[in-house]
Amino acid sequence: MIRCMEQLFDYVNQHSEEYIQRLREAVALDSVSADPCKRSRCVDMAHYICEWIERLEGKALVKHIGKQKFADGQVLDYPPVIFGDFCVDPHRPVVLAYCHYDVQPADIQDGWKFNPFELTEEQGKLYGRGATDDKGPLLDWLWAIEAHRQLGIPLPVNLVLCFEGMEESGSFGLDKVIEEESKGLLSRVKYVCITDNYWLTEHRPCLTYGLRGIVFFQVHIRGPQMDLHSGLFGGLIHEPLNDLIHLLHTLTDSQGNILIPKVMDSVAPVTKEEESIYERILFDTEQLRKEAGQVSQLRESDKVKVLMNRWRFPSLSFHGIQGAFSGQGEKTVIPCAVTGKFSIRLVPHQQPQEIAHHVEQFLKQQFDQFHSGNELQVEWRGASPWLGDYHNSNFTAARLAFKKVYQVEPDLTREGGSIPITNTFQEYLGGEICLIPLGSPDDGAHSQNEKMNKHNYIEGIKVIIAYMDELAKQISYQY
Ligand code: BES
Ligand code: ZN
Repeated sequence: MIRCMEQLFDYVNQHSEEYIQRLREAVALDSVSADPCKRSRCVDMAHYICEWIERLEGKALVKHIGKQKFADGQVLDYPPVIFGDFCVDPHRPVVLAYCHYDVQPADIQDGWKFNPFELTEEQGKLYGRGATDDKGPLLDWLWAIEAHRQLGIPLPVNLVLCFEGMEESGSFGLDKVIEEESKGLLSRVKYVCITDNYWLTEHRPCLTYGLRGIVFFQVHIRGPQMDLHSGLFGGLIHEPLNDLIHLLHTLTDSQGNILIPKVMDSVAPVTKEEESIYERILFDTEQLRKEAGQVSQLRESDKVKVLMNRWRFPSLSFHGIQGAFSGQGEKTVIPCAVTGKFSIRLVPHQQPQEIAHHVEQFLKQQFDQFHSGNELQVEWRGASPWLGDYHNSNFTAARLAFKKVYQVEPDLTREGGSIPITNTFQEYLGGEICLIPLGSPDDGAHSQNEKMNKHNYIEGIKVIIAYMDELAKQISYQY
């Protein structure tokens, strides 16, 4: 077994150039799930992965999830969910690996140093949209399988890959697919491994046992039939954008604290034990300030408070206003309809339904007081928070894998971000879920100049190889 591991690691060391070249191809397929113009690129990316799975002699299963209607009236197929079946032994449990192949939008004009869809290597960093979120980690799974195949070493576990193409747009349709396949391809899944998050500090790996949930709101305000000249109508009508700004203003104070009644009531109280866990974690708030590119102070500088605000308290962020003039220069227009977009990150024991109800009620109450006669409509979509158990054998395997590759004990962390499908896995498949982050905290997911360190990308393959090997040992203790 030890010899196999050495061979596999050597093989990985010898192929780094090929690994980078293929990540370049994957990044060039600009699979932005939110953009209808890029939908065909998502489909291309799905084909790219399926062909690869088949080259590795896995069974590729493509699950179509219906059609999406966009705001501009276009109707297009959703990007499919792809499964790669690499099961070898029907008497043993199955390990499910989850990643997503869609990415966030990116445009060089947003301030990128390089073309976001042309992978660029500079000082050990691989820049490109999706490099870390989540194409690099997704490719790591395929490379780990490829190394086994090339060396003629059988995979130590039954592996099923689950790669979706709508994660960045709320994982639409995946729930249904998981529910259906829980009686089929996924019926023997006992372990789930999600590789779609980041280390807490640059130099020490971690394992993640918690995620915040999210409710995303779109607040529509409609007034006149068409846009109007502010010289002709300014001061005469109730402007939708005026309503919206005042409405959004009621949600938080100037420091960003949430003011919506009842929203904070269901947050689980902090325990003494929790406080001491947070105190022991290695984390540098000054480094965080640099990652954020903040010139001024953070809202908090105390380590425990910073981590708690990220992981175990809710937060409200404003994302944008659709319909308002946002071009260069001046335009003296009164927009006839505007949509405010914001989201609230949820924590145990908040549920999307309940929080959305409080927010909707509050927005309506406030809006009624404006007596503007405009029309208000609130839409929302949500995902629950998730908290796992880090004492199980899945975590043990992942911990030992990190120790083998990095010779250190990984920290145990939670995340401020959301991976909506985690709870669905828990609900329909049961078993043990573990998050193995491969990216670095300064990777800039969703941001300009997203990158993955070459080191993280290559060592990530070894982490996955070691994880499968350790998990096989854990399984053989039990069967
Ligand atoms: N990779 C992230 C999840 C993540 C973000 C983990 C930050 C850890 C820290 C994932 O691709 C993502 O961005 N998810 C969205 C989900 C949303 C669209 C429902 C998120 O968290 O904003
Ligand atoms: Zn992601």
